[in-house]
This record gives sequence, C-alpha cells and structure tokens, in this order.
Amino acid sequence: MTAHLRLNKHSAEPLYRQLARALRERIAEGVLCVGDKLPPSRQLAAQLGVSRMCVVNAYTELLNEGILMASPGRGTFVAESFGALSDPSALPSVAANPSAGTLSPESVIAFSGGAPAEEFLPVAAIRRSIEAVLERDGATAVAYEETEGYPPLRAAVAQHLASLGIRATPENVLITGGCQQALDLAIQALLNEGDTLLTTSPTYLGILDIARIRRLRVVGVPTDEQGLRTELLESAIIACRPRLIYIAPTHHNPTGSVMPLHRRRVLLRIAAVADIPVLEDGVYHELSYGAEPPPPLKALDEYGVVIHANGFSKIVLPGVRIGYLVVEGALRQRVLRVKQAADICTPSLNQRAMHHFLVSGALSGHLDRVRRACQQRRDVALKAAQRYLPSGARWSVPSGGVYLWIELPHSGVTAAQLYPVALRHGVSFAIGAEFFTDESEPSAAYFIRLNFAQQSASRIEEGMRRLGAAWSEACAVLR
Ligand SMILES: Cc1ncc(COP(=O)(O)O)c(C=O)c1O
Repeated sequence: MTAHLRLNKHSAEPLYRQLARALRERIAEGVLCVGDKLPPSRQLAAQLGVSRMCVVNAYTELLNEGILMASPGRGTFVAESFGALSDPSALPSVAANPSAGTLSPESVIAFSGGAPAEEFLPVAAIRRSIEAVLERDGATAVAYEETEGYPPLRAAVAQHLASLGIRATPENVLITGGCQQALDLAIQALLNEGDTLLTTSPTYLGILDIARIRRLRVVGVPTDEQGLRTELLESAIIACRPRLIYIAPTHHNPTGSVMPLHRRRVLLRIAAVADIPVLEDGVYHELSYGAEPPPPLKALDEYGVVIHANGFSKIVLPGVRIGYLVVEGALRQRVLRVKQAADICTPSLNQRAMHHFLVSGALSGHLDRVRRACQQRRDVALKAAQRYLPSGARWSVPSGGVYLWIELPHSGVTAAQLYPVALRHGVSFAIGAEFFTDESEPSAAYFIRLNFAQQSASRIEEGMRRLGAAWSEACAVLR
C-alpha cells in the first residue's frame, strides 16, 4: 500500500508535506482504505530513506486533518472522517477511549498554533480605520502603493521604533507583508543557494521553512534559559562560516527566553568582528508582561550589523499582514528589488488602515489589554501545568509572548508518541523536535510547545488536564 511511494529530495516542498500529500492521494484513490494500518514510522522512514521525524510529521498532519487515527500500542490507521476519531471502535481491534468523548475540530483544545487570541483582535477599531481611509483617500487607498511602503506609515513606524530605543529614519523603514516576508526578503537579498544561516537551536519554524525553500544550510547553536549560548558562537562561526545570523532575542519562539543585555552585547561584538550581519526578529518584543526586557539588538548596535525585522501581527492583528524591515545602505536597494519582484507592494488599504490605527493612539490601550490577558492566561497555564503534567516535566516562566516550552520527563513517551494520543483526548500541541535545527538531538524528542494565549482560562485548565491524562495513557500503552 505504501510501496512505490516516491519523494523528491530536490523539491522545495518539505519531504513530510510530499509524503502527507502522497498518502492523501492514495487514500482518495482507494489504494489505502478505511481501517488500513500504516507502516510504523521507523519502517516507512527506512523504506523511503528519510528521517523518522519526516514520517511522524506527515502522519501528524493527516492525524490533524482527521484522515488518519492513532491507537496507542496498535498503530496508525486510515480514518473515515474526523468523526471517526470519536468512535475508535469503528476501526478493527482498537481499544475504546472513554475519556475522548465526541471530538470535532472545535472541541480539540489547540495549544499548537502561533496566533494571538481572536477575541482580542481589535476588529471594531480596524473597521473604523478602514472606513476612514476609504472615505478620506478614495481610489488611492486601493491603488498600487510605493514598493517601500505608504510614506506616512513608514514615518509612524520610525516614530514607534524610537520608543524601543531604535533610531530609524522613515527612509530606512520598508513595509512588508508581515514579519515573515521581512525575514524572507532580507534572506533573499543577502544569501545565495547553499549559503549557511546560523541560528539558535531550537528556532522559529518559519525561518526553517524559508531556509528550506531558499535551499540554505542551517546551523544551530544551542540555547539555555537565557537564549543563545554566546560562549559557543565564535567556534560555531569558525566551523560553519555563516552568511547571516538569525535570532529572536526577546520572548523567543518556541522557548520564550529573553537574552540578557550582556549576551546581546557579546553577540553583536562577535558578529561585528566576524563581519556577519544579524537579522533580528522583534515580533514578540512588545508582548512583555514581566520585567522590562533589554533593548532590541538594533538599539544596541554600535557596529551597523543588525537588520531589524518586526511587524504588528502579535501586538495588533496578523490578518492585515503589516510588517517591516529596518535596513540601510546598499542592502536597502537589494531588498527593494526583491520586494518588487515578490509582490510589487504591500496592500495600500491595509497600510493606510494600520497607519490610521497607530496615529489614532489606539495601540497603547490595546497593547495593555493584550498583555494583561496573556499574563492571566500564562498564570492559568502554569498553575494547570503544575497540577496535571507529570512530575519530572520542566518549564520556565515566560515573561512575555504566548508560549510555554515544556520538557517531558525522559522516562516517559516522546512528544511524537504523545501527539496522537493527546489528539484523541482532545488536545493538541506543537511537537518540539520540529523547532530544532538537528532533530536527532537526543533531548529534542521530549519538548512540546503550548500556545496558552488562544484559549480561555477554563479551556487552558481542561486542555492541560487532557494532556496529563494523555501522557499517562500513552506511557502505559507505549512504554
Ligand atoms: C518569531 C516569529 N517571527 C515571525 C513571525 C511571523 O510574523 P507575521 O505574522 O508578522 O508574518 C512569527 C509568527 O508566528 C514568529 O513567531
């Protein structure tokens, strides 16, 4: 049933996506039928010559979609529909799970994503802003915009950055389609296929996606609770000769760590001496609700090595896709050419609406509310983790951002083993190994990332309870 599966290792599409797609097609064609058991991940990985994580990721994607279902100790099966997950007995010899109840995509408590809570998105304010700019600017609001971005927004961003200690002129602010595009444009402007990108391990999944698509080599430097271990940086640079360092120093995704001031200075000095630009990702910097974090790298940069990428997705709303790059000199021109080729300009209406929102003064009150809500939800998550997660599980207390980064006890199941069981219990999380630059790192397998910001207090509590129960069940069956 899985014979003749072929994956293209030279394709820009990640291998696990290719595999998920191929399995989906086989199910649609009836080659794989409801109730068919899939090969164990280790076996299929060996057959295809790919990593086991690739197969686990593909299975996980299909489990998420409800196309597959997992039964602890028995394996992974083709499900009829997502509804079939609620009725494991519909499949041959699958033990019923009394705690699973009736699951639907809505009733799964998703700790897995990276989005802010929808109920805190300022819908009314952004509607007012959109209406106001359409009324004020008419057709110009829906025409092409300058590739650099809407000039008043660039000026407002420069002013906003001053409050973070970053001195930027409007000319050096380039508006992008979210922070993700800011990162991609900087990378396209600076790196060629085969070049090395150095980052933390673990790191932001989106940067790994960009590196894969742009065919870069990624080298990771280990982290601890203070972020990048700068004492390892010089030797890593000598060993791998990177063209760029990517780093999110404040409320790092996935770990939540904040680099202290002295490490920031060490990083900048090493990068300057080695003449390697640093791409700083600041998307969570302002989502702080604990101690004030140190200034962004860009604010500390005496050497001119930092390119600052940021945006409004995490502090206002992600759907209007407004991000920006602070970039100077010849690089600015190169980034502009790449942006022009990518999408000509970021939508004018969205830029004008975000500008209107910023100059209306709505940001500070909105940000206060979001920070308070995130802090409350973090506290609920910490308390619930303490109560329901197994003893031996470890996490640190994030002072900002939306993630709890948890290391499961190594005496129990791995995150990938826990995942399908957790899904049957009605809770999902992000599998930590995916964030590591080298997934085979032994401890990587035991990490999970939970986004606590998207769920209400009662769902966080219930989600954590389900997670604890899933862990116990998975350990009992799989170990
Ligand atoms: C660290 C990090 N950088 C960048 C982004 C992308 O942000 P945007 O939605 O503005 O493209 C995310 C989104 O999750 C993120 O976590």
